[in-house]
Amino acid sequence: MHDARKIKVGVLGATGTVGQRFISLLSEHPFFVLHALGASHRSASKLYSHAVTWKQTRPIPSVVRDLVVEECKPECFAECEVIFSGLDADVAGPIEEAFRSAEFAVFSNAKNHRRDPNVPLVVPLVNSSHFAMIPQQRALHSPPLQKGFIVTNANCSTTGVVVPLAALERAFGPIESCMITTMQAISGAGYPGVSSFDILDNVVPYIGGEEEKMEWETLKILGGISESDDGVRSFDMHARQPLRVSAQCNRVPVIEGHTECVSVRFARRPPPSPQQVREALVSFTSDAWTASCPSAPRHTIFVHEEPDRPQPRLDRDYQAGAGISVGRVRQCQVLDIKFVVLANNVAIGAATSSIINAELAVSKGII
Ligand SMILES: NC(=O)c1ccc[n+]([C@@H]2O[C@H](COP(=O)([O-])OP(=O)(O)OC[C@H]3O[C@@H](n4cnc5c(N)ncnc54)[C@H](OP(=O)(O)O)[C@@H]3O)[C@@H](O)[C@H]2O)c1
Repeated sequence: MHDARKIKVGVLGATGTVGQRFISLLSEHPFFVLHALGASHRSASKLYSHAVTWKQTRPIPSVVRDLVVEECKPECFAECEVIFSGLDADVAGPIEEAFRSAEFAVFSNAKNHRRDPNVPLVVPLVNSSHFAMIPQQRALHSPPLQKGFIVTNANCSTTGVVVPLAALERAFGPIESCMITTMQAISGAGYPGVSSFDILDNVVPYIGGEEEKMEWETLKILGGISESDDGVRSFDMHARQPLRVSAQCNRVPVIEGHTECVSVRFARRPPPSPQQVREALVSFTSDAWTASCPSAPRHTIFVHEEPDRPQPRLDRDYQAGAGISVGRVRQCQVLDIKFVVLANNVAIGAATSSIINAELAVSKGII
């Protein structure tokens, strides 16, 4: 998909949970080259290996071990073309905007710009067509930008659920309503996250803001882009068929991998059978794979036949955490069909999505 050119990249929030996963993945990337790392003033000026509390199973890649951590200022990343952001949402908004204004391509995991009417919210296995909003984002910037833009990826639990929903809509037409109950891993809250005293032997039935994010982001991602008579584009929030989403989010004592129980009702009557749903999920191919993105999973969705799968400990590393696992596809007595989804929150739910988004931008000639 790409000529021999190497592209220098920077990682903001490089010491955090998502930042560490960025570094692990990018250290082996075929054409993105880790060049600069940024974090807070607490970490800046230190060697990366001294600043970070490394929590990955593989050692710190040698390419970053002795890099000096920078402050998150565009001038410290001057040689980079692409910026991956794993910044804390408390600070991500203005920092990411400063990098966009300085003509960087910014791929963010934070919530801050997801609702921006000109910022694509892209789950790369689902809605790469939303990159079409970037020319308008650049044009509306003051002054207009030549190269800079922000693309965000979704909340980690939204990402897991929109992939099978997109597969089902592609096969059977619009979904009318969707109920989701999540069991979310503690790594989703960053490090050190929820205290062990609160999460061991326990389930916490509240994750601040998470349910609202799932209910809103799903509409933006599964919706299309409309264009007015005077050429202004906007995200249509699934206008072709109103979609009601209800989410209940729980934190459970799992380290990595969000499990979600999903029930859906289709607009079409009669609805598809469980077997038709299984076949549609298995045969779903993402745009990212079609575009030969090197980090895209070969098989987007794996459908388990065993009654007790997927499970986070067994299935979270499916396709290096880039694939989605589904199981227990069966009839729902209230809506139409119900099933269980498992997605790796730190991989496809965060860093892997950003990296595939950047690969898509390269393949589309946007970078
Ligand atoms: N964890 C997940 O599964 C997941 C999934 C999807 C999206 N996200 C989103 O991704 C982002 C990062 O999450 P995380 O779990 O990796 O969080 P985290 O472990 O708490 O890491 C936060 C990072 O932000 C940096 N930071 C904090 N304050 C800063 C400041 N004032 N200036 C510059 N850098 C600053 C930290 O640097 P220091 O080490 O120097 O403090 C650290 O590198 C969040 O917006 C989160 O909502 C997370």
